[in-house]
Amino acid sequence: MTDKATIDLCENGPMIVNTAMVIDGKSVEPGAALCRCGQSANKPYCDGSHNTAGFEDAGAVEGATGDDGPVATLTVKLAQNGPILCSGPLTVRSADGSTTHAASRAALCRCGKSERKPFCDGTHGKVGFEAG
Ligand code: FES
Repeated sequence: MTDKATIDLCENGPMIVNTAMVIDGKSVEPGAALCRCGQSANKPYCDGSHNTAGFEDAGAVEGATGDDGPVATLTVKLAQNGPILCSGPLTVRSADGSTTHAASRAALCRCGKSERKPFCDGTHGKVGFEAG
């Protein structure tokens, strides 16, 4: 398989993972929407709570060079009360599609409070994020 693992950021909403992935050992079909606001009652998946929570994030990502490449399945681990840890070549794409960030690993914020969205900056610990 030669599909790239691409994660699309949604403005004021979730991230869409456009490839098959394995989350904590469970296979997940392409197209899963993962929570970025920290308010979903169905974490790590989006349940629409970003709308009522007033989550605001443009879904921007700094363009960067990286070592993305073909990958069949993205491997994802959920840090306890922390970020989404992705491994395998992947590309994170901004909500407007204008920039991408390619990497072999990424820690993506799911508490909604990082100053470096879409990436984790450790703020989850300061705000007492509980993934449930
Ligand atoms: S998960 Fe949001 S700052 Fe780490």
